[in-house]
Amino acid sequence: MSPIEIAKDIYWLGVIDWNIRDFHGYSTYQGSTYNSFLIMDEKIVLVDTVKKGFADELIANISQLVDPTKIDYVISNHTEMDHSGSLQTVMHRIGNDKPLYCSKVGYKNLSKHFPNEWNYMPVEDGGELSLGKRTLSFMETRMLHWPDSMFTYVKEDKILFSSDAFGQHYAGLERFDDQIGEAIMPHALKYFANILLPYSSLILKLVDKVTKMGLALNMICPDHGIIWRKDPAKIINSYVEWSLQKPKRKALIIYDTMWHSTEIMAEAIVEALGKEGIDARPMHLRSWHRSDIITEMVDAGAILVGSPTLNNGLFPTVSDFLTYMKGLHPINKVASAFGSYGWSGEAVKLISQELKEMKFNLIDPGLKIQYVPNKQNITACHELGKRIAEALPPE
Ligand code: FEO
Repeated sequence: MSPIEIAKDIYWLGVIDWNIRDFHGYSTYQGSTYNSFLIMDEKIVLVDTVKKGFADELIANISQLVDPTKIDYVISNHTEMDHSGSLQTVMHRIGNDKPLYCSKVGYKNLSKHFPNEWNYMPVEDGGELSLGKRTLSFMETRMLHWPDSMFTYVKEDKILFSSDAFGQHYAGLERFDDQIGEAIMPHALKYFANILLPYSSLILKLVDKVTKMGLALNMICPDHGIIWRKDPAKIINSYVEWSLQKPKRKALIIYDTMWHSTEIMAEAIVEALGKEGIDARPMHLRSWHRSDIITEMVDAGAILVGSPTLNNGLFPTVSDFLTYMKGLHPINKVASAFGSYGWSGEAVKLISQELKEMKFNLIDPGLKIQYVPNKQNITACHELGKRIAEALPPE
């Protein structure tokens, strides 16, 4: 891809990773981009780099605009290797003595990734860097998505380079929100749900801080996906809404099954919830990717998890999902466990323990039935669905 001028003398020169399908456990079924930017002022600045394997492409993109050795400064907003993996090659080409700006934690983290004695320039929260006509301002955004993360703001152009925040794993020819429209929002939500959900409270604080600062925004440039220029407020408002995780009258019945008995239970629970007017859906763990379930979970008020008992424990896909979900700290859910068993029946208890540890509101000890559900068992599933519906707050 050739560089694209996104504002006068400011260029996108990122790369498109059309083929990535897994990003540490998140299904990136439409690929991703690693965005890098060049500001051509009296000083020339490269903002963020790209994943290892794309370094030559980035250098070729830079070279279409300027000899890479003419770059004066490099900024690393985030250490994770999808943005720093090419740094060694890029710094070698630009000049290993060029000042490398990052947060204080970024300095520590980059030092642990790379052996080079680079000319690190750790910056304070609120620190500034003059480029001549423009001034860059740095803002620490710890845990969005790593402790080292920071934003870089171009004061005169009102452009925010937001690193992971507001990004999307989406590979396409579109570069801006107005070129793709509403179709980008599911990708932005999935990114939020699977990368930033655990930091929801920090996002709310950050938005509050930025609002109080009165930071004007013409453009938000994340390091993945499209740039928000038509309506930057839209993605900020969406982040506020998603971070609040306000529960809807929506229930996810997440399960796996061995001989269809737990599946019969799941469908009976869904049926009962549907009769109560709840938006309910079964999510079979070998039919739905864990990261798509998490995306649906952001606004779901109820989570039911079902597993057969296998060798005195959980079905492997259920363990996988519970581990993934626990790390993402969803909040504001009523919950219950269910499942079929043959003789020992530990699965429901194990799921309930996990749901309790996640601080979900467990409405009962869980429903377990032996072997194949009979009429009475189906009635019990219907009753569980009804109790879940009653426990959901009104919208
Ligand atoms: Fe896109 Fe946290 O890296």
